[in-house]
Amino acid sequence: MAKVKSAYFCQECGHESPKWAGKCPSCGQWNTFVEEVITKEQSSSGYQSSSKRANKPVAIQEVESTSEARIKVADRELSRVLGGGIVPGSLVLIGGEPGIGKSTLMLQIALQLSNLKVLYVSGEESAQQIKMRADRMEHDSKNCFILTETHTADIFREVEALGPDLLVIDSIQTLHSPKIESAAGSVGQVKECTAELMRFAKENKIPVFLIGHITKDGAIAGPKVLEHMVDAVLQFEGDRHLTYRILRTTKNRFGSTNELGIYEMMQNGLRQVSNPSEILISQKDKNSSGTAIGATLEGNRPLLIEIQALVSPATYGTPQRSATGYDNKRLNMLLAVLEKRGGFRLGIQDVFLNIAGGVRVEDPAIDLAVCVAIISSLEEIPLSSKTCVAAEVGLSGEIRAVNRIENRIAEAEKLGFTEILVSKFSMKGVDTSRYSIEIKTFSQLSEVVSYLFG
Ligand code: TYD
Ligand code: MG
Repeated sequence: MAKVKSAYFCQECGHESPKWAGKCPSCGQWNTFVEEVITKEQSSSGYQSSSKRANKPVAIQEVESTSEARIKVADRELSRVLGGGIVPGSLVLIGGEPGIGKSTLMLQIALQLSNLKVLYVSGEESAQQIKMRADRMEHDSKNCFILTETHTADIFREVEALGPDLLVIDSIQTLHSPKIESAAGSVGQVKECTAELMRFAKENKIPVFLIGHITKDGAIAGPKVLEHMVDAVLQFEGDRHLTYRILRTTKNRFGSTNELGIYEMMQNGLRQVSNPSEILISQKDKNSSGTAIGATLEGNRPLLIEIQALVSPATYGTPQRSATGYDNKRLNMLLAVLEKRGGFRLGIQDVFLNIAGGVRVEDPAIDLAVCVAIISSLEEIPLSSKTCVAAEVGLSGEIRAVNRIENRIAEAEKLGFTEILVSKFSMKGVDTSRYSIEIKTFSQLSEVVSYLFG
């Protein structure tokens, strides 16, 4: 008979404690401990076959290399984000807000992989609901199977009977393992179910995609350990009112983490967006002040992004500063630089900043574009729609070099810009004669200001 034991788990970070505590010693959050009953079996072995075979040490040169064995996916965006296809036996977690399109994305991928047998396990929707969604995406896959089940033991039984090449779990928070007595979605359950799926994936070399819910502050619900257990963590994000969706990696054991996939939510599913710059800047009105185009890089991908700024006199006491898609602290820093080094009286102005298209940019190369957009709005002088910028701004108002400037220049040229403003220090060893776009170099913010705004 199994011995019943209970423990307290922090719902934020998954810290386990034998006693309740007000404050989690691991993550410092208050009132996050919840008692969960765990049934410890004597010979606990998550996925049943693990006890049958004990691994032996192997010399590294004898370990089979599996680098070429990736499963090719037709979806180029997903393929790029994963680092070039799906790695057999990998466990991939996809997080995102409710309604953002996680189920749509995974079902679409499942249907596209028509030469593979895919099992889509749903604990959230009925088979009819999934079928309705599948019907909207015109497809002809006969190899996609739907299972509405939440008990891991039943799922593994069906998996063994069907023998799929790929498994999708929608969502990890709905799964329930009989080994743990707490409710589905609790830290203990999520951890245990993920561990079972991981063992399954590794032992059978079958890739598993897990859909995960996220909490209010954007982290994947469930313990942090979940992110350590899986091989890759993808975030599916975007503004729900806009149609663009961005798939980004926050962890990837088999590739780079700064790759980005862009989709557009259509009536018949998600469409891959192969040239995002065109969409992100297509709505620019030639004569409006306060917009600037920044040449950024997301992973290996150059992306021209429109930055919109609105500067208006503050009517109430403390001026407001708010940024969407951009770091607020960084905005405050740039405002201070503009005030101190550029002599712009921004201390009495409300400043709002928005990155068009619902994208979030962390590339410092966007700094100069942010500054230029703010000055353009403050002075009410529109910028030429054929000009774009790529440089970092330092605390003393210096224009700093950014990496891979040639990719940015080439992309700007491709999109029909006639002028790009960069740092003087970016241009070492760059052959400017290769480009027809005019490359203007600067070393101080004040030079840029007098060049653009006279
Ligand atoms: P869904 O995949 O259910 O989101 P999640 O699993 O992340 O909660 O996405 C639902 C949204 O997507 C819903 O608001 C409708 C929209 N949608 C489309 O616009 N077109 C489509 O073809 C599909 C299937 C969904
Ligand atoms: Mg869903």
